[in-house]
Amino acid sequence: MDGQLRVGVLISGRGSNLQALLDACADPDFPARIVCVLSNNADAFGLQRAADAGVPTTVVSHKDYPNRKTFDAAVNDALGKFDVEFLCLAGFMRILDGQFVARWRDRMINIHPSLLPSFPGLDTHQRALDMGVKVAGCTVHFVRADADTGPIIAQAAVPLLPDDDAETLAARILVEEHDIYPRALRLCAEGRVSMKGDRAIIDA
Ligand code: GAR
Repeated sequence: MDGQLRVGVLISGRGSNLQALLDACADPDFPARIVCVLSNNADAFGLQRAADAGVPTTVVSHKDYPNRKTFDAAVNDALGKFDVEFLCLAGFMRILDGQFVARWRDRMINIHPSLLPSFPGLDTHQRALDMGVKVAGCTVHFVRADADTGPIIAQAAVPLLPDDDAETLAARILVEEHDIYPRALRLCAEGRVSMKGDRAIIDA
């Protein structure tokens, strides 16, 4: 398919959401393709997934830079080499500085394992359990300066079961993550997401 959106994926670890995106992009009719996978962690298993799919990888370790600003500039330079038009954060566990977020405004999405705006940050599943919520889930959203905030593109909900612990809940939510992330990327790539104020409106 011509005119596919050129996507870079940023990861830090396992990369199961990256895999869901790679699998979706393996369909020649999918409106986006992954042109590079960047990790801040050289040991991230997701790098292997990308290599297996024939996608170029690059590592920019935050440990090599004195602060967030210089690290983010290095990430941006690395992405520039691949003519990236759109970014997907997929388990990328670094907070990006305001300048980077502004540069990629409405061209960078993230997946988070909670029904935002509830439970941004870490330990989301345990916190949901501790609060006794009856429904949990996951969210794909445009990235704004504060971590795990921004206009919501897609969400999926799962019920909490009586015997759930953080691990079983995370596993059930992850199945939904793998479903909504490619769907959200497709919506963006097809130009079916527009902004109204700070809300993302979906042309279904
Ligand atoms: C996923 O559950 C993702 O939602 C979460 O990290 C995990 C990465 O798994 N992201 C965040 O918590 C972002 N705040 P993966 O590497 O197997 O995709």
